[in-house]
Amino acid sequence: MDGVVLREDVEVDGGIILKVTINRPEKLNALNAEVVSNLKEVCTMIEQRSEVRCVVFTGAQPPPAEEGKRSKPNAFVAGADISEFVGKKSQDIRESFADNAWEAIWNLSKPTIAMIDGFALGGGLEVACSCDIRIASERSKFATPEINLGLIPGGGGTQRLVHLIGYGKTMEMVMTGEMIGAEEAHQIGLINHISSIEELEAKTMSIAQKIVSKSSSTMEIAKKAVRAALDNPLTVGVGIEAEEFALLFDTEDKEIGVSSFLSREKPEWKHR
Ligand code: COA
Repeated sequence: MDGVVLREDVEVDGGIILKVTINRPEKLNALNAEVVSNLKEVCTMIEQRSEVRCVVFTGAQPPPAEEGKRSKPNAFVAGADISEFVGKKSQDIRESFADNAWEAIWNLSKPTIAMIDGFALGGGLEVACSCDIRIASERSKFATPEINLGLIPGGGGTQRLVHLIGYGKTMEMVMTGEMIGAEEAHQIGLINHISSIEELEAKTMSIAQKIVSKSSSTMEIAKKAVRAALDNPLTVGVGIEAEEFALLFDTEDKEIGVSSFLSREKPEWKHR
């Protein structure tokens, strides 16, 4: 397979985990216009394929080192492609960032996981922050280094990071541009789990598989309800949750889930 964004169906118990690999390892998977455009296409496709029940975003491994040269480091995504910033003005950026990959990923109705092995920097960290869950290898490194380019994060980083790690840590990352390791990222809540390099894929897939085993229609509502906490004041959010909860009582999968529990059987969801 080649191409800057690879897709792989991983079939599990009744559904598909779609693995999406950003594939520019010679440039540490930096997001150039082609990657962004392909990611947006993938997001459109994901919404159209009902059998896709969880999406794992990851970065391609570096190729073997060329003779006499050092090998490239592992990366999830080392940011937006900086070479594409040369000579750009505000109008160019407004246009190219208006309909971007970070929002396309964020707006997916299905559960998303970022599987991170290596650098997750700038726009790459923002891809991870646009996912619902982040799982990283112990050698991963995280930063918002845009300040070193005379810039700030532009893919939702200043906003989504505050929700994940709070105001003070976000300010420190954005203002210093310094990298943090996986341990610290885990400690501050930036990533959900740290894994050894060898176990990263298995750990990620086991969480994805658990998600796939639930009712897909209930999963969509769960994501929507939790998201309401970010977009609304608390009382409004609680109201949204209450209504979504009530509506689930009209669904077949609520009947299936409750009766399966009571009869000690595995639920066979209608909406797989
Ligand atoms: N945009 C474009 N190219 C990038 C890139 C980016 N964000 N990040 C890395 N690359 C390219 C490098 O230019 C280099 O290309 P080359 O081999 O053709 O010269 C290649 O990827 C390998 O990177 P290199 O810098 O040689 O690796 P390193 O191990 O010395 O350093 C980093 C790794 C991640 C510390 C360094 O690449 C870096 O600081 N990248 C930019 C991070 C950044 O500022 N991201 C935010 C952008 S908004």
